Amino acid sequence: MVERMHFTFQQLKLFESVFRHGSYTRAAEELHLTQPAVSIQIKRLEEQAGTPLLEQVGKKMFPTAAGKEMYSASLDILTRIAELKNSLDELEGTVKGILQVSVITTAKYFLPELLGSFLQKYPDVEPKLKFTNRARIIERLMNNVDDFVIMGQVPEDDHLEAYPFLNNIISIVAPADHPLAKKKNIPLKELVNHRFLNREAGSGTRSVCDQLFEKHDVKIEPYMELGSSEALKQAVMAGLGIAALSTHSVQLELEVNKLAILNVEGFPLKRRWYAVHMKGRKLSLVAKTFLDFILEESRHIS
Ligand code: PGA
Repeated sequence: MVERMHFTFQQLKLFESVFRHGSYTRAAEELHLTQPAVSIQIKRLEEQAGTPLLEQVGKKMFPTAAGKEMYSASLDILTRIAELKNSLDELEGTVKGILQVSVITTAKYFLPELLGSFLQKYPDVEPKLKFTNRARIIERLMNNVDDFVIMGQVPEDDHLEAYPFLNNIISIVAPADHPLAKKKNIPLKELVNHRFLNREAGSGTRSVCDQLFEKHDVKIEPYMELGSSEALKQAVMAGLGIAALSTHSVQLELEVNKLAILNVEGFPLKRRWYAVHMKGRKLSLVAKTFLDFILEESRHIS
């Protein structure tokens, strides 16, 4: 049996990705390959294993019992190889190589700047940043795919290690000429009388606002729901309504008086941005250096 198993590193990597996504197409996208290239390699892996590893039900691939064993072994091997690569880089002592970080889309307003300064200092780092939504971030976090992830609201889970860095100030934002823009101490319940634009269910920003509304028994019927802070901001600027947004996402619009922050009771919500990984994850030299860098840099930024 053992002699028969000539797996390649690439096949295990592909298999891990297909398993995680339940799809050849998504695995191919993730690894920048074509879908047939992925399925051929999985077929070869199955031939070597001598048994089917995946079966298709409808449009999704599901692992067989052998597939689950293969997945767990693949994860061990891939993690071990990544650690080996890190150790070799560390022995060399230079900060270089891949930095794999997933970032919640709303953090796109500040993270590129931090990354830019980091890369000036460490030009041999190869950044692989993935900006994606909260559901994907959590999935990747739990599967230990990235060096770490960057997000606002950290899931409650004892297996996670979270490092707070920048402040995340969430305010109610309106067009600058909105009737509430000049008012002081607007009661929270007054918001129900205005068109309120919401983020999608699952958004971290939305969930902290929902908690505040619920605590004060304020029932907002959203006028519209939009899937990103950028879409929400554009809708507010177009006069469609008001919305809760991280001030990071509206900095420029506030400066040029396109938008205004409303003085609403209970706001702004003062939260933090976090770098998060699974407890016990051994960070590579690159990842550790980047983490230390953002923690240090953000002490100088409000
Ligand atoms: P969001 O993320 O874009 O999902 O609201 C920010 C957060 O995690 O708080």
